[in-house]
Amino acid sequence: MKPSTPIAIGCDHAGFELKEVLKSFLEEYALDADDCGTNGEASVDYTEFGARVARKVASGQNSRGILICGTGLGMSMIANRFSGVRAALCNDLFSAIMCRRHNDANILVLGGRVVGKDLAREILRAWLETPFDGGRHEERIANIDERAK
Ligand code: RB5
Repeated sequence: MKPSTPIAIGCDHAGFELKEVLKSFLEEYALDADDCGTNGEASVDYTEFGARVARKVASGQNSRGILICGTGLGMSMIANRFSGVRAALCNDLFSAIMCRRHNDANILVLGGRVVGKDLAREILRAWLETPFDGGRHEERIANIDERAK
């Protein structure tokens, strides 16, 4: 299902190469990307770019986002500090499918030093194409922010 807003995409230096690959994939897929940087391989702090994307998704400006750092760990940590963000680190296909079906993940996180380009494209395709199951999972995802209070 095509998201109603451009997909916010961000990375640090370790995710830059994969970000460019995934931007081309989105273009082939006729999806708009909102590139939040970084835009080169100079060393940067992943928290800056993770926060840019997470803030846009949390506010509803962008309904979906993609974040890439070396492992995907730092980006997951910063993104999940934002209320309403459900960022899922998916370095395998099964996680990409299940984070949509059960968690309605609105940010996909990848490790640029962990997954190869072909697998990353397949992970992104699965995350884009898999719908949320809803049902019992609606209440569970609603409880994520509630229980963290
Ligand atoms: C950068 O060297 C690396 O620490 C970063 O990309 C990320 O993996 C952090 O979690």
